[in-house]
Amino acid sequence: MLLRPVLALPFSTLQGNGHGSFSKTFLSNFSLSSEKGKKFVASASREQDFVVFRPFEEVEKDSLLVPLNPQLSLARHRFSDVCEAAINEQINVEYNVSYVYHAMFAYFDRDNIALKGLAKFFEKSSEEEREHAVKLIRYQNIRGGRVKLHSIVPPFSEFEHEEKGDALYAMELALALEKLTNEKLLSLHRVAETKNDPQMSDFIESEFLTEQVESIKKIAEYVAQLRLVGKGHGVWHFDQKLLHDDDAA
Ligand SMILES: [Fe+2]
Repeated sequence: MLLRPVLALPFSTLQGNGHGSFSKTFLSNFSLSSEKGKKFVASASREQDFVVFRPFEEVEKDSLLVPLNPQLSLARHRFSDVCEAAINEQINVEYNVSYVYHAMFAYFDRDNIALKGLAKFFEKSSEEEREHAVKLIRYQNIRGGRVKLHSIVPPFSEFEHEEKGDALYAMELALALEKLTNEKLLSLHRVAETKNDPQMSDFIESEFLTEQVESIKKIAEYVAQLRLVGKGHGVWHFDQKLLHDDDAA
């Protein structure tokens, strides 16, 4: 916020000091405002000693005027259209990933597949992605942006893979999705930086980026373990571990 420079002198300096001519000359060069018993403050036109904030002049700036149009956000301040659009895109990414995980949950929950641990893991993952979308929706509203939901693409419903088996194939797909989501989040962060929006940068860093790299690490470990166990019996043990992971906690 801009501050107007002014010179401040003690009131006593300008009164009753026996230098009447100095006071008259000084006063003629400054517009004055003062309160009895407090510091004397005068606006000045040259380089000054310090600045005083003048709120009623500052709030008349265009960027601070409160809109009268009821369609416009009252809260919006220094929030770029580009940032608003990028957040809407990320909301769509989160919903799409959530939808894919939901399809995986439905697949592994089938009676003839019956890998309940994987079903539970993907159901929880789907909910987490949806929570990410909700978090972004709330943030969009906090900044005075307008949420626009885009289309969600129908995901695959079959995850059998002749060579890898369904568990490894689905987990590798999940790993690729998490990395893709991370790419999108980094792009969103770059948009915030480019538009000089440190609050949005901080929101993405603190609420998303750390969690995202942790998700990538966890799923990468699952892929490594599934590659070790192969298909069949080993997958059943892996699935049991996923199913009962929370029991030990
Ligand atoms: Fe996410």
